[in-house]
Amino acid sequence: MFDYKHAVIYQVWPRSFYDSNHDGIGDINGIRAKLPHIRSLHCDAIWLSPVYASPNDDFGYDISDYCSINPEFGTMEDLEALIQEADALGMKIIMDLVVNHTSTSHAWFQKALKDPSSPYRDYYIFRKGTETQAPNNWISFFGGSAWQKAEQDMWYMTLYTKTQADLNWTNPAVIDEIVKITDFWLEKGIAGFRMDTINTIDKIEGLPSKNPEKKGLQFADDYVIDRPNVRPYLQQLRDRSLSRYDSFALGEGVMTTEASVRNLCGPDGPLDMMFHFDLATLGYGALGKYDFRKGYIITDRMIKKVTRKWQQEQMRDHTWIGNYLSNHDHKRHLDRFGNDRKYRVVSAKMLALYNFTLIGTPLIYQGEEIGMTNPKLKKSDWRDYEAFSSSKEMTNMLHVPAFLAEKITNFVDRDNARTPVQWNSHQYAGFSDHEPWICVNPDYLEWNVESQEKQSDSILNFYRTISRIHHEHDCLVTGSWSELLETHPHVLAYLRKGETETALVVLNLSGFCQKIKLPDACVSNAQSALSNYETRTIEAQMRLKPYEAHLWFLNGN
Ligand code: GLC
Ligand code: CA
Repeated sequence: MFDYKHAVIYQVWPRSFYDSNHDGIGDINGIRAKLPHIRSLHCDAIWLSPVYASPNDDFGYDISDYCSINPEFGTMEDLEALIQEADALGMKIIMDLVVNHTSTSHAWFQKALKDPSSPYRDYYIFRKGTETQAPNNWISFFGGSAWQKAEQDMWYMTLYTKTQADLNWTNPAVIDEIVKITDFWLEKGIAGFRMDTINTIDKIEGLPSKNPEKKGLQFADDYVIDRPNVRPYLQQLRDRSLSRYDSFALGEGVMTTEASVRNLCGPDGPLDMMFHFDLATLGYGALGKYDFRKGYIITDRMIKKVTRKWQQEQMRDHTWIGNYLSNHDHKRHLDRFGNDRKYRVVSAKMLALYNFTLIGTPLIYQGEEIGMTNPKLKKSDWRDYEAFSSSKEMTNMLHVPAFLAEKITNFVDRDNARTPVQWNSHQYAGFSDHEPWICVNPDYLEWNVESQEKQSDSILNFYRTISRIHHEHDCLVTGSWSELLETHPHVLAYLRKGETETALVVLNLSGFCQKIKLPDACVSNAQSALSNYETRTIEAQMRLKPYEAHLWFLNGN
């Protein structure tokens, strides 16, 4: 199997990666053209966000045909060439598997909708309500009711956009179809799948209303998340398809808890690895990124606490997670966990050092390797369904004034992370020679791949170095994790103890100088490996500059 524990994975969100055919939309041949860039970061695999046929209501996460390619992105031949060329460079492809739902444009759904007696009806979750009332009070994750009307009193479930119809996994025919899809892709030589919203495939029996005593739509949470059949369903998929190809599965879930990770990707679970969202959602209110009640404030103590929780969890329960700072579902991380102005370079490097030295597989989200940050969006820049829907619901349901809802949306909108990768200082950042489908961050003139290639101390070259070090020092992969300076409010420090070597990581998470005192045992034999300032000899008492970060190796353990 793909050695996911030792791997570094690069996430490509194809629409904004690189445009090869002058239409302003990133595509598969664009990815092929830039494979050497990804490999230069010592990546072992590329997770490709969806490239399948799709009406693009959720930019590819609404799939109308799982075995064909969205023509905007190219052809099946292009994709096969990508798999081969990546392979030749030492990289595997991981496809996104979105099977909690299909697009309502999928042939299965179209047949189900047109003919109530079609066997495809039972591929989806159709339920009787009344002419005017949905079967229950569940809210969609993107706001609004989780039900759409089919005919008369009949409705179908959509937990995401109104055109993503939830599949009915209780129907064995649905699992048969999914097995055909995963076989189709595994035959092509991919390493495995990143499975989208995989802990919501089992819904509570009878689909009762949630908190019926309360007025208005209700968040269905435990009625749809981590239900008991998720594991057996995935085990079937594993046994019938994935295992036969010795392939790998990375799960993405909603509100993933330690228990769900333990259940799905513990030693005998059906998945190999999962994501959690505790870092990505820091500063959000309980209802998610559009819930502004916590003011989006992130303290260094919050980062330390989340880190401790998941590092200890993986050791205790022998689970494995994917560590990431950014992805396509949240605004970029620099202005959240670091500082994208005065300390842009040092804080980007500090966070990279963090991400590459924890237990779990490090992921890089396209563009973070040059310190890309969030543009100042305006409403006319919005492209994402979630932005329009959630800002409307903030006004309708929470009575947030429209101007404020717009401001909050500009701030948290997923479009922030979806602007084109900045390749050079030419027009449109060298992403395309045609006006891109979404705005380009105007800071590309200064912040781009080409200029950082030339600077030995650039963020890009730092990413290359830390990724190489990650591959060369096994203690960073298999070593234990133990914390130092636990009560320090701003400095995160830990040891990764391996069989022959120990790494010591010290990270000033703050934009201020901090004093620390390290244990003498660490100080006596440490060799400096990497720092975001000049490398320094370790001392028992140190004064760290803003965001100063160090990696030292201690001989022996
Ligand atoms: C996952 C994807 C997200 C998508 C949603 C519905 O969370 O990462 O982009 O909108 O599932 O498929
Ligand atoms: Ca294109």
